[in-house]
Amino acid sequence: MSDRNHASARPASKTLLNLGNLPPKQMNFASDGSASYPRTASRVDPNNPPWPAYRGYHEYSFAHETMGKRLPTILGNAVNDVILTLNQQHDEEQITDLLACMDRMNVLMKELQANEKLRPIIDDEEGDVPLWNKAIAKYFKGKDFMNAPWLFAEAYKYRRLHECFSLSRYWKNYDVFFRQKCDTFSRSGTAVFELSMRFATPQKQDPKLSHEEAQQVKKLLFLELTQVSLWGNATDLSLLINMTEEDIKKIQSTGGEHLASTEKNILGNHLNRMWDLVANMKGGRIDIVLDNAGFELYCDCVYADWLIQSGIAREVHFHGKRIPWFVSDVTRKDWNWLLNMMVYGFLFPDASDAESQSLRQLGKRWKQYVAEGKWIYEQHPFWCTGYTFWSISTEAPDLFHYLCESDLVIFKGDLNHRKLTYDCQAPTNTPFGVAIGPLANEAGAPPVVSLRTIKSDVVVDVPLEVSQRLDADEPGWRISGKYAVVLLSDEDRKKQQSAQQAGANAETAGN
Ligand code: F6P
Ligand code: MG
Repeated sequence: MSDRNHASARPASKTLLNLGNLPPKQMNFASDGSASYPRTASRVDPNNPPWPAYRGYHEYSFAHETMGKRLPTILGNAVNDVILTLNQQHDEEQITDLLACMDRMNVLMKELQANEKLRPIIDDEEGDVPLWNKAIAKYFKGKDFMNAPWLFAEAYKYRRLHECFSLSRYWKNYDVFFRQKCDTFSRSGTAVFELSMRFATPQKQDPKLSHEEAQQVKKLLFLELTQVSLWGNATDLSLLINMTEEDIKKIQSTGGEHLASTEKNILGNHLNRMWDLVANMKGGRIDIVLDNAGFELYCDCVYADWLIQSGIAREVHFHGKRIPWFVSDVTRKDWNWLLNMMVYGFLFPDASDAESQSLRQLGKRWKQYVAEGKWIYEQHPFWCTGYTFWSISTEAPDLFHYLCESDLVIFKGDLNHRKLTYDCQAPTNTPFGVAIGPLANEAGAPPVVSLRTIKSDVVVDVPLEVSQRLDADEPGWRISGKYAVVLLSDEDRKKQQSAQQAGANAETAGN
């Protein structure tokens, strides 16, 4: 008879099996047992990207450093900027109103450092409040700064920073980063003149060249100027907190030799495919979804100027941010500042007469483009939300339809790239067209290009052997800005369109 009360009948406290010969454990199983990534489109939402999200508590990712260290530093610098402004005021009401903004900034700092939950945005009567609060209620209820997806939590912090001022009476549009943005451009003289001295005089085509020769010249210019716009992105202020003048000069050098050597650092390189797309474009519409103000914006304008002069584009639409965003992003004020400073400013005391003159001439031409409607500056509120661009057609259908009218939409920079690719842990060999989802395959979607220097974890359309080698040899390669990608979605779009066409043909034949 078994004695159930005897000590030998008690279950073993721990059983250790030696499983050394079994196959290794696999990762990424779904709860229903099927392989879980990428999630199918219907299972994707802002808290559940196609592949696992980066979150602040992931110590292996840049999310951790950013949420834990960089954002508090950026916020601390922002408080210092407000103190500078405060010390220059004389009106008591305005001073106390600004002090209240500072109090709100200090509350935000405490919430960030104590990793509190993301609360709804206070109704400051701005149009984007419903969009923000819907996202928080639907996808991020109970989430905090560290366990919400990095992209959303980081964007939320900039919207909360804006709220500190939007609730005030006199300081609603105050930009805590404006000083910094202007200052860095003023320290970029060498590279600024390098370009203005070459491009101030309108480009003329040599009449002696044959059509083929002229196309070849055009192609080379296109490839180089696309690179000028690309590498202009290496200079974003949120990362360059302690840059010296020399450091800035190094990353901004725009000479031909430098560009040739940097092309080898473009790990996913669709430059030639981009050229194939625009080579025969005449009078098209090109959209540039801007990233940073100052020098990067200046490079983008040089590029856009040439696109107009070459006849490729009839009009260029520039999309900027409605509120101060990720430290250095372009707002309308930054846009106006650049164009007006080029024409009227005295930013470069050491410049020669010829240099100053070249900058004024260039600035005048750009302002003329604006006056003639060839350059159009816009700022849709969707760009300053925490949604990724997988959600454009659902959360901002008007913007999606508007972009569909473009012949090419160029997204600049790292943050735009994170938003295109859902900022998740996709394998690096994921094709760009797959990584950007609906923007590549939804009916009517325009060709999309990402010009991005790599400054955060997500990397796509780069062979696995390249990313694995860099992971082993240069552990900082994903955040250094030394490497870049130029990726175009057109291939996938064309396949989609021809599949749709084939379907339509089959239907007609069947009738
Ligand atoms: O804070 C991180 C980040 O959002 C990264 O995407 C990048 O390092 C930087 O800030 C912004 O870069 P960019 O100006 O190129 O979007
Ligand atoms: Mg930026």
